[in-house]
Amino acid sequence: MNYQAVIFDLDGVICFTDRYHYQAWKSMADSMGIYFDETINNRLRGVSRAESLEIILERCDKVLSAEEKQALMEQKNSTYVELLGQMTKKDLSAEVKETLDALRAKGLKLAIGSSSKNAKLILERLGLKDYFDAVSDGTNITKSKPDPEVFVKAAEFLHMAPADCLVVEDARAGVDAAKAGGFDSAGLGEAAAYEAVTYAMSSFGDLKGIV
Ligand code: BG6
Ligand code: MG
Repeated sequence: MNYQAVIFDLDGVICFTDRYHYQAWKSMADSMGIYFDETINNRLRGVSRAESLEIILERCDKVLSAEEKQALMEQKNSTYVELLGQMTKKDLSAEVKETLDALRAKGLKLAIGSSSKNAKLILERLGLKDYFDAVSDGTNITKSKPDPEVFVKAAEFLHMAPADCLVVEDARAGVDAAKAGGFDSAGLGEAAAYEAVTYAMSSFGDLKGIV
């Protein structure tokens, strides 16, 4: 075995919440008369809620106070959480579930390393509430990806050294975070095309040939 543990990003790797993030930010931006589209949304992948708002506000002429920004983040999050209510176990693909089970059967420890403060709610919606050996998420970090904190914490929760863990990511910021923390990474989507990634994957099941 090349690794003893695998740390998975959540949004864009285990599940596809991107469209909900997009709809929720779009509704907030529309309410403020701020232009927002899918291309701008792509820049929000792996980025914290507060940093995402700053990216959206690049198109806003008004200077907003910290309280106004907080209110906008709460507005976006309440729309997002409402949309997450639509998620069910059916949103967990058979390929992802079968691969996770195969890695577990090999004896690997499995963890989540996500910037999201909604990670535990999403895992519950997917029927994965108690599945992972550790969950490191937006509620236990002070610095977001590309800072390695979320993955370093996940490895600590597992009592593993970074060199023994593989990080799975769909965002460049996540690949950078893995590298900065001393982790190898496996990339999907835009992360697969990123030169800093250790292994490029075309689908989730490719993991079985890497670990
Ligand atoms: C990441 C997403 O997983 O979590 C980002 O890729 C999102 O788009 C970030 O902004 C924070 O999520 P949340 O749920 O705490 O607003
Ligand atoms: Mg992601």
